[in-house]
Amino acid sequence: MVGAGRPAAAAAGLAVARVASPAPVLAQTSTSPVIELDVVRKIYQTGEIAVEALRGVSLTINEGEYVAIMGPSGSGKSTLMHIIGCLDVPTSGRYELAGEDVSEMDEIDLAEVRNRRIGFVFQQFNLLSSMSALRNVEVPLSYAGVPREIRRRRATEALSRVGLGDRVQHRPGELSGGQQQRVAVARALVTDPALVLADEPTGNLDSVATAEVLRLFDELHDQGRTVVLITHEAEVAERAARVIRIRDGEIATNDIRGGR
Ligand SMILES: Nc1ncnc2c1ncn2[C@@H]1O[C@H](COP(=O)(O)OP(=O)(O)O)[C@@H](O)[C@H]1O
Ligand SMILES: [Mg+2]
Repeated sequence: MVGAGRPAAAAAGLAVARVASPAPVLAQTSTSPVIELDVVRKIYQTGEIAVEALRGVSLTINEGEYVAIMGPSGSGKSTLMHIIGCLDVPTSGRYELAGEDVSEMDEIDLAEVRNRRIGFVFQQFNLLSSMSALRNVEVPLSYAGVPREIRRRRATEALSRVGLGDRVQHRPGELSGGQQQRVAVARALVTDPALVLADEPTGNLDSVATAEVLRLFDELHDQGRTVVLITHEAEVAERAARVIRIRDGEIATNDIRGGR
């Protein structure tokens, strides 16, 4: 009886206890690796044509780091982000996320790891247009099997934290771009993830909205989260303590700087 529900729970990507009562993320100076890539290659096969998007990337990112990934269009940034975010797996090489080898996980286990550890923010916001801001922010909690009332409360809190406490019933089409991206940030933080990944999060925003969204990332970082963002704007990369430059699927430079 005790074990009876477990495979089904795993299939649904449930991590109820952990997501329902998250451990507080404390600011710390720990240096334990959260992301460890070892000679990761990614080859996309499209018909006859194979594109080697990542050519043996090795990289370690520690807990609590704020890292910017830069590089020209087509250099492999999004591919790298998809692998780091467990949205895809390497063709070869090894990837450990918080000590867990995810390089050969199947889709069900990857979904569970994503839900448990990672918050995502994308350039196009990726909100569901027919749903209110509140329902959008609830989505990751629904996947985690969090009961409705707790979901509501936590999503409302997350929207307040990004300054949208008075917009919870608005749909994406009724919000500005900057507000939509803040909804996406609320959705990313509602599960209290240790790692926040963002792919060109300010690429569609004006300078005022960019500043607001970057301030939210600063806050997430100050709370002890690891933040990795892709950008081609120098002003955005300046917030990070480390800038990794990708060129033709390889790391060109990997500089630790002062950061903020
Ligand atoms: N799903 C895919 N199928 C085939 N080729 C892809 C796919 N995604 C990306 N690529 C190719 O891989 C290379 C790297 O792409 P990407 O990681 O999106 O670069 P960036 O984000 O730096 O612009 C490009 O040459 C691109 O055309
Ligand atoms: Mg890209």
